[in-house]
Amino acid sequence: MSGEAVREQRIQWPVAGVSRVPFEIYTDPALYESEQESLFKGPIWNFVAVDIEIPAVGDFKTNFVGDTPVVVVKSSADSYSAFVNRCAHRGSTLCYEKTGNRDAFTCVYHNWSYDLEGNLKTVAFHKGVRGKGGMPDDFQTCDHNLQKLRVQVFCGLLFISFDHAAPDLEKFLGPKMSAHIRRIFSKKIRILGAFSQYMHNNWKLYMENVKDSYHASLLHTVFTTFKVNRLSMQGGLILEGDGGHHISYSKMATDSGGGADYESGGLRAQNDEFVLHDNRILKSWPEFEDGITHAIQGIFPNLIVQQIQNSLALRLLIPRGVNGCELVWIAHQDNYRRNATVLGSAELFHRVRPLYDAYADCIDEEQFEKWPEFFEDICFYQITTREAVRKSFPIGIVQCNSKGMLIDRINSMKRANIFEPQRYRHLLGALHVEASENGTIRARMGFAIVRILESGETMLFLSGVWKDKIVETPEGLRFREKIAVLDSSCVDTLIVVPV
Ligand code: FES
Ligand SMILES: [Fe+2]
Repeated sequence: MSGEAVREQRIQWPVAGVSRVPFEIYTDPALYESEQESLFKGPIWNFVAVDIEIPAVGDFKTNFVGDTPVVVVKSSADSYSAFVNRCAHRGSTLCYEKTGNRDAFTCVYHNWSYDLEGNLKTVAFHKGVRGKGGMPDDFQTCDHNLQKLRVQVFCGLLFISFDHAAPDLEKFLGPKMSAHIRRIFSKKIRILGAFSQYMHNNWKLYMENVKDSYHASLLHTVFTTFKVNRLSMQGGLILEGDGGHHISYSKMATDSGGGADYESGGLRAQNDEFVLHDNRILKSWPEFEDGITHAIQGIFPNLIVQQIQNSLALRLLIPRGVNGCELVWIAHQDNYRRNATVLGSAELFHRVRPLYDAYADCIDEEQFEKWPEFFEDICFYQITTREAVRKSFPIGIVQCNSKGMLIDRINSMKRANIFEPQRYRHLLGALHVEASENGTIRARMGFAIVRILESGETMLFLSGVWKDKIVETPEGLRFREKIAVLDSSCVDTLIVVPV
């Protein structure tokens, strides 16, 4: 019996057809395995990178297609190549870095070396040592190249396919999806930030979730409360071909005031008590002539193209076993506007240390209303990652540009967001302080944060370093700038509580 037949026998589809999905499709390990072969390595295209991430010849990025590791390389001035990130000799990982530049890829295990197109060029001790050993006489390097993959580019987005029979990328995307990608990428972009989050669910649940407009204005109450996205706006769902790819969209300016439907019936989505202290976060400018202000596009199986007002991002989905997946966010924009106003010894140490103790205690004791009081009115708060700092990305995972925004963050956490209950515990590390001429104190402190879930599950959640600017005010020391630089760029599920 074929694998397909065995699977069908085990997973019974209800008679109602595709509108009733058996839960086993999200939990069955054999189905997960077969998806890797028949879907991710099948006649489709998988998003892997943006061209501006690897602009120069020799630039590369490692990534995953399904759960297979791959490398995509700018192999010449006008071409890209891609291959499986496994040495053709014994299957060792060929390239460990996420990005970089190489003339060649040399395996650390036995030194086999490949060119930028994945062709085997040199083999250590090919002819043996002092006439002994070596490869057999009929050994040909060209028989041992890396497993090469197809690469095609559309609007600067690089896709790869395992299947040499896959249709051309634009045909795979279809006319409606291609037009929308062209629309988003009509201007030159730059990458503002990137990080990833680990999610404890089967990858298909995420791809389905982005198509689920039912939840969007009910669960994400911020959208409804501030009329960013409501069902009373003009909008719709565009499907391509068999429905694998989709766009769900809305136009803010067309809100018909149908808020009555949210206000009546006690829908939790409408929250009149929630008022922003700093509404710059809602400020947007018309960017697209069609008036669409909210568009989520899913390109099956691994890409989501996001436009929420002027916030543009790509989300790349990587399956991580049957019960997990990783979502990699790449934020980009053509005309990013950072509206922050960042104003520019032993004794110092003993003055500053209590500030950090009180700050951590405030969060750990869940005194969230007091948290913004640790900051000046005009301040800058950011959670970012080491990797983002290394790449000089201006935005991180979380960002607030004033005390008002910090207050809004707490209000939204308590009143306008729905998430699994959790508590944090900060473990503070070494403190380094130095005073600058203008009276600002620069401070740096390492931290680790333990997360405790309602179930009692306790895990090491985050580690990193705060890189802060502190000033003296009549009320005592306050943060003018607080940047939490996380050691890892992958966050488990999501950050809820302040760091
Ligand atoms: S496994 Fe790569 S050279 Fe041996
Ligand atoms: Fe959602």
